[in-house]
Amino acid sequence: MSPTPPDKTPDRISGMFDAIAPRYDLLNRVLSAGLDQKWRRRAVDELRITAAGRVLDLCTGTADLALVIARRHTGASVIGVDFSAAMLRFGLAKVRAAHFEPRVRLVRGDATRIPVIDASCEAATIGFGIRNVAEPERALAELARVLEPGARLAILEFGEPRIPGIRRLYSWYFRYLLPAIGRLVSHHQSAYSYLPASVGTFPPPAEFAKTIESHGFVKVQAVPLTFGIVYLYIAVKS
Ligand SMILES: C[S@@+](CC[C@H](N)C(=O)[O-])C[C@H]1O[C@@H](n2cnc3c(N)ncnc32)[C@H](O)[C@@H]1O
Repeated sequence: MSPTPPDKTPDRISGMFDAIAPRYDLLNRVLSAGLDQKWRRRAVDELRITAAGRVLDLCTGTADLALVIARRHTGASVIGVDFSAAMLRFGLAKVRAAHFEPRVRLVRGDATRIPVIDASCEAATIGFGIRNVAEPERALAELARVLEPGARLAILEFGEPRIPGIRRLYSWYFRYLLPAIGRLVSHHQSAYSYLPASVGTFPPPAEFAKTIESHGFVKVQAVPLTFGIVYLYIAVKS
């Protein structure tokens, strides 16, 4: 029997991220041993941005991916969209500290109704966000709507390591140690148990790649990073 997916109603998810926002970045760095920023840089490498166009970072949270894009591509403007006001507040403080305003703009909005006009973005990213969206297929359809033909999409999401020994060790860490550290540091009772539960019910890489493809994307690849702990999905808008 497959496990029941956790409750992903928008109010619950945005409330959970509002609550953990103050410790979100710290926990990302600690729980991934600093690898999270390396994964984000790798995703941005795949965007192959050339012009001074607009890049969308969906589910931007505290804007880490948006900041990597802005640093890497000094001609590009970045729009970060997220429905958690608290995550965006911490993101905005970082955008201001980096003097990236107004080139980087953060907007409150839902991934299934992206507040951006059709075919107006030359690339898009989602970092560890799609798994949390209650209707991921609607978000993919929205991404297809806002991207120009030929635009590149890079999605980071957690996966499961493929090598059996590493898989067992990581599974123990992810299911037991990570939620305990998360609870202790964030003072939130369930957010870091929700993390493994939501990863456990996310489709396997090949299946998710097919879902991306069925929403108007071509050349879809699912690239395992760090033994498959994370997958980088790369696609081109047809
Ligand atoms: C795990 S965080 C990732 C944040 C950031 N992209 C990163 O790389 O750290 C997931 C983010 O997705 C946002 N999110 C989840 N579902 C969303 C939706 N339907 N619309 C907009 N944002 C959403 C949450 O508020 C949260 O900030």
